[in-house]
Amino acid sequence: MIIDKTYKSRKKNILFLFLIFFQTSCDNNLSNTYEISSPDKSIKVNLEHKDGGLYYTIKKGATQIVSLSKLGLITNEFSFDSNLNIKNAKRSRARSQWKQIWGEQEVILDHHNELFLQLVSEQDRVIGVRFRVFNDGIGFRYEIPQKDNAEYEIIDELTEFNLEEDSPSWWIPAYAYRRYEFLYANTLISEISRDKYSQIVENLGGPRKGPEAVQTPFTVERSDGITFAIHEANLTDYSSMTLKVNGTKNLECDLIPWSSGVKVYVDSDLQTPWRTVLIANKASELPMSTLTLNLNEPNKLKDTKWIKPGKYIGLWWEMIGTNQSTWGSGPHHGAKTERVMDYIDFGSKYNFDGLLVEGWNLGWDENWCCTGDGEKFSFYKTHPEFDAKKIFSYAKKKGISLVGHHETGTQISNYENQLEKAFEYCNTNGIRVVKTGYVNDGSQNIKRIGKNGKVHREWHHGQYMVEHFRKVLETAAKYQVGLVVHEPIKDTGLRRTFPNMLSREGAKGQEFNGFMSTKDNNKPNHTTILPFTRLLSSPMDYTPGIFKLTNYRYFSPENKKINTNHKIPSTIAKELALYVVIYAPVQMAADLPKHYEGHPGFQFILDVPTDWSESLVLNGEIGQFITVVRKDKNSADWFLGSITNEKGRKVSIPLSFLDKGKNYNARIYRDPENGGWLDKPEELEIHQGNFKHSDELVLDLKPGGGQAIHFSPTQ
Ligand code: NOJ
Ligand code: CA
Repeated sequence: MIIDKTYKSRKKNILFLFLIFFQTSCDNNLSNTYEISSPDKSIKVNLEHKDGGLYYTIKKGATQIVSLSKLGLITNEFSFDSNLNIKNAKRSRARSQWKQIWGEQEVILDHHNELFLQLVSEQDRVIGVRFRVFNDGIGFRYEIPQKDNAEYEIIDELTEFNLEEDSPSWWIPAYAYRRYEFLYANTLISEISRDKYSQIVENLGGPRKGPEAVQTPFTVERSDGITFAIHEANLTDYSSMTLKVNGTKNLECDLIPWSSGVKVYVDSDLQTPWRTVLIANKASELPMSTLTLNLNEPNKLKDTKWIKPGKYIGLWWEMIGTNQSTWGSGPHHGAKTERVMDYIDFGSKYNFDGLLVEGWNLGWDENWCCTGDGEKFSFYKTHPEFDAKKIFSYAKKKGISLVGHHETGTQISNYENQLEKAFEYCNTNGIRVVKTGYVNDGSQNIKRIGKNGKVHREWHHGQYMVEHFRKVLETAAKYQVGLVVHEPIKDTGLRRTFPNMLSREGAKGQEFNGFMSTKDNNKPNHTTILPFTRLLSSPMDYTPGIFKLTNYRYFSPENKKINTNHKIPSTIAKELALYVVIYAPVQMAADLPKHYEGHPGFQFILDVPTDWSESLVLNGEIGQFITVVRKDKNSADWFLGSITNEKGRKVSIPLSFLDKGKNYNARIYRDPENGGWLDKPEELEIHQGNFKHSDELVLDLKPGGGQAIHFSPTQ
């Protein structure tokens, strides 16, 4: 059993250690206003108790960014809304640090100031509001102790985010059919609506259910440059938060409901997820925020030695990208023993850690997709053409693990009934990572079988699915398996508590460049928006590394004529840069082996690590460009990734991140002169250079392209 049963007693020791850094004090003079500042005093939250309600505001420096906004929630038994009395106020501070088991940086500082207010409601219920203010933003949550073991229902959470300025924002719609897999819209906050989205990005069609709302992280850039994102941390036993809009600059927390209309069923002490606002002076500071991780619980897994970041290849792009093979049975079935063994040879030759094989199991031949109804997927019975015994022993001999694949089609009870056996099967066969999948393109369309066998239809992001995703994560941990979840619930920093929560999709990924025609695929600016939006909740299984960007897709496995309507809006240099720009502890080299074999650009994929001691965002503007550098955790090498939208540009990079006193050899992978996503996207130039700490480098980024650089110290 991996879940640390001694966690509670360990927690006491940790708590003891932390007391060294924490100072607590009670405010004996209860007041109607409270101020909490960040340790560096740059961010201030003011709380106001007025007319019986509780409100907050946020300032960055002298600038108010969130104006008076209400706090509270309403249940079927009591409400935390008006007629509240303050009972107690407690302040504390933390100045500590902790280490990530894997991540974009090894050491994370947790420096914050805290205020915990206890209030009594009209119905004599005690409710706490805990605020933490960091240098990179704020978080707050509600805490309600259970009374007499009574269960209750949350009808509404009243939290408001009334913004001071109607600024440009980047958003994807909530209550839409394809979960989080959308391109981002960029509009003023007051302009947000599904109609607007249909006009400027993609037609959402109908019927539309639920209120006008956006998913989080929701990012805003003010006219003075201050950039912030509203999100949540530690989404546990609750429903996920979206932000309701109303044609103004005011937003309100909107919890995804159950089919019954109830937002959250509570049956124990309640600590809601943290409502967070990540705040930066400028856009390029935002992706470096560690606030979400700091607001999650420390690691709960006793033994983590088995969790290893790494890179994987896959018998995958030949289905979703090149369209030459199928997941299901038939003459073009991809996951055939001999073929899998060829992939094993390739992966092992180049030291990949994993090989993903999709279509290895039973269930694909049923009508599984997008209704949530079928109950046919097996997660431990193999397709007859996949000789498991032979494949697993060959993989073991060749030193590579298979990456398992559990496409559930959102047939939740079918999956949950097999969970233990499914992950035990992985453990027995050396599968250390499983990619799960929840394809179901309806909106409120996840089948839940209630008491008496009645069928209910749930949203993908409500409490039912939050609980399901957690059950899978804990079961995977028990059998020492890491997860890469496709069609996931959004990330809220859980990887700190469960480091086997490796990566997620949860955005429009590379796959859309595979199966969507040029008209509807990801545009060159998409990956320059992700670092400031979806990736704030990090990491992502974007699956970069496609080298064959044109003429790659057949009309069908039967009709092997090239469908020229498909073109990937990228360049090879940009594909390489994405390994640094998009952080993930497990990264895929997504293209076919034959497109890598002998290609000089492949060396970068082989060299780039997936575990870092340090990461820095050197520059960036949302939707335009970004440059990221990261230092390998296991060597002194630095890697740089810089990408641009459809516009070419020159960006100047001071190399002051390199160690002083060292000389570095740099291998530069870049687009050719007159190159870019429209011209010569598959041409790559590789240059060598020598650099040191005091140098400056000008990156000449071609339209829709990028640059990737590997710096190694010379002896
Ligand atoms: C969608 C996933 O994102 C993709 O990677 C996978 O191949 C298909 N579902 C099938 O499971
Ligand atoms: Ca997907």
